[in-house]
Amino acid sequence: AFLLNRSSDLLVIAPAMDLDMYAHPSTQQNLKTLQSYGNHVIEPGTGFLASKLEGKGRMEEPENIVACLEQFFSQQESLRGKKVLITAGPTYEKIDPVRFIGNYSSGKMGFALANECANRGAQVELVCGTVSSSMQVNYPNIHRINVESAQEMFEACKELFPSMDSAILCAAVADFAPEKVAEQKIKRTGDEMVIRLKPNPDIAASLGQMKKQGQTLVGFALETNDEESNAQAKLKKKNFDFIVLNSLKDEGAGFRTDTNKITIITADNKKDYPLKSKEEVAKDIIDELERL
Ligand code: PMT
Repeated sequence: AFLLNRSSDLLVIAPAMDLDMYAHPSTQQNLKTLQSYGNHVIEPGTGFLASKLEGKGRMEEPENIVACLEQFFSQQESLRGKKVLITAGPTYEKIDPVRFIGNYSSGKMGFALANECANRGAQVELVCGTVSSSMQVNYPNIHRINVESAQEMFEACKELFPSMDSAILCAAVADFAPEKVAEQKIKRTGDEMVIRLKPNPDIAASLGQMKKQGQTLVGFALETNDEESNAQAKLKKKNFDFIVLNSLKDEGAGFRTDTNKITIITADNKKDYPLKSKEEVAKDIIDELERL
């Protein structure tokens, strides 16, 4: 293990152990916990182990560990001085004091993006819907603004965007909200119940209109069908510089999972990526942002 001292202490861990111990769920969970604190894990290699068994658990070769550290340090500087707005999580649209319309977003993808940008030195404004209390940010250069509804998220983003270099809109924003919020808990009568919905602001489209030269706007498209053509349409309509498509048809992609499978689509190009952890997916997205 290596202790790296910057604005905050960072730990890079290169684990080495027998294959069963590495594959054990408690080891995997512990590694995830370490990563959730902002530490970095260099995965072990596969090959002969001290026990004479063969499998995943060999400490990564020292020259590869050094290469990882070099890449880590070079990336740390790459967004220094930049300001990035990120939206994450779901929005909740109140029906009455005890009920809301929501969705399954956990915030994991948005938090991974925030951590990756902060790790590369950016000042991050993270506008975040209601997520589990276990979702924590790990860097002092992430400023978190908690909101509940699409309207609140819209107000926060509209205010912040003019002073940002980039925005990445990963939140799952409700497109509709109840027209009226009941002041008291709605009682069951036995009759059918109708809730009239009004459209919410389209945050992405508004920021797309506000976008000035030199600003970059990145959107997501969560699709269930006609994935690419829907994503292409959103790219144009919302004036994104690129859009990150994820489909609920792909196992391990989308809501709540620790992994995602994406396609990055620009006006004249598209690139498919394999299923990866959301932390690795965030790296691919931020690499594309930096390339632009
Ligand atoms: O949070 P996780 O559990 O990790 O899940 C991650 C995710 C699946 C939520 C994420 O990867 C994702 O796909 N986020 C976008 C979800 C979504 O609302 O997609 P959309 O295709 O409906 O919206 C298109 C884009 O417009 C998105 O960038 C969205 O943030 C934005 N939008 C949508 C509606 C609205 N009223 N305002 C918006 O800004």
